[in-house]
Amino acid sequence: MRFFRPRHSTLVLNEKVVIVTGASSGLGRALAFAFARRAAKVVLVARREDRLEMVRREIEPYTSAVLVIPADLSDEAQLQRVVDLTLERFGRIDVLVNNAGIFMGGPFIEQDPRRIEQMVRVNLWAAIRLTQLVLPSMLAHNHGYILNIGSGLSRAAVPMFAPYVATKYGLAGFSDALRRELHRTGVHVTLVLPGWMHTDMLSPEVENLVERYGFPVEHPDFVAERAVLGLVRGEHEIVLGGFLARLGVLVERYAPVLLNIYWKLWMTPEWASTMSKIGYSTENNDR
Ligand SMILES: NC(=O)c1ccc[n+]([C@@H]2O[C@H](COP(=O)([O-])OP(=O)(O)OC[C@H]3O[C@@H](n4cnc5c(N)ncnc54)[C@H](OP(=O)(O)O)[C@@H]3O)[C@@H](O)[C@H]2O)c1
Repeated sequence: MRFFRPRHSTLVLNEKVVIVTGASSGLGRALAFAFARRAAKVVLVARREDRLEMVRREIEPYTSAVLVIPADLSDEAQLQRVVDLTLERFGRIDVLVNNAGIFMGGPFIEQDPRRIEQMVRVNLWAAIRLTQLVLPSMLAHNHGYILNIGSGLSRAAVPMFAPYVATKYGLAGFSDALRRELHRTGVHVTLVLPGWMHTDMLSPEVENLVERYGFPVEHPDFVAERAVLGLVRGEHEIVLGGFLARLGVLVERYAPVLLNIYWKLWMTPEWASTMSKIGYSTENNDR
């Protein structure tokens, strides 16, 4: 089994410096908690400073240090600033969590091109560039962990999400290739594939529909705990989202024709119209 599911050595998070992007809400906030509870020093990054300060107050009792860096990750200069400020304060970076993301659904032809560009910048480009910026420090210490937050849609192409799926497949490919490239450097890459999660990204209407399709809507605390546990154990890929989501990933890999048939049957007008509201109804994506 170790041959099929290789693992790197276990990681102790105590006093480690962890950057969490998208830490102002949802999964990022839950991840900040999960790292703080293990006594890591946590760097919180997102645009909304007031929300980051709230998270700082919540996690401060657990950890020796929290640094808040308000930043728009679609801007390269701000990515550099995140790395510079972290190194200035702590002198090293042990873990980078690329979690910040934008979600948008609906018929591809109707999706706003400016929003698509912003989504590509945040979900994919920022994760790639930030990884490139933290790597010199990690390689100098022969030690580092990249935790990329993908999605079940990183390994299973769901209709009405073509550009989002493209960013998440991209992140999965980036993680796989980089893991192989960094073999023996002491820097490890873990990819997490959450299923549907109860965060600002999903409205109650969307949650109801995906539950009717048989997918659980998981709590971000559960996903965060599982992600950190996987990171510590050295897992390469953590697939969450319940039985159907895990099955979907397997079927997409080994028998994609079955998913073609499934979506011919289940890509209903209700699916299309409900998914069109993702990314247009959440205040998060409108800022
Ligand atoms: N919710 C789901 O069902 C689900 C399922 C699978 C995967 N995921 C993935 O999980 C991750 C977290 O999403 P979530 O569900 O926790 O949603 P969320 O609550 O909306 O969180 C998204 C985070 O990204 C940050 N962000 C967005 N644009 C940014 C920018 N330009 N610069 C800096 N930060 C930015 C937001 O912070 P600010 O607005 O303060 O900048 C926010 O903290 C995403 O990568 C998402 O694709 C979510």
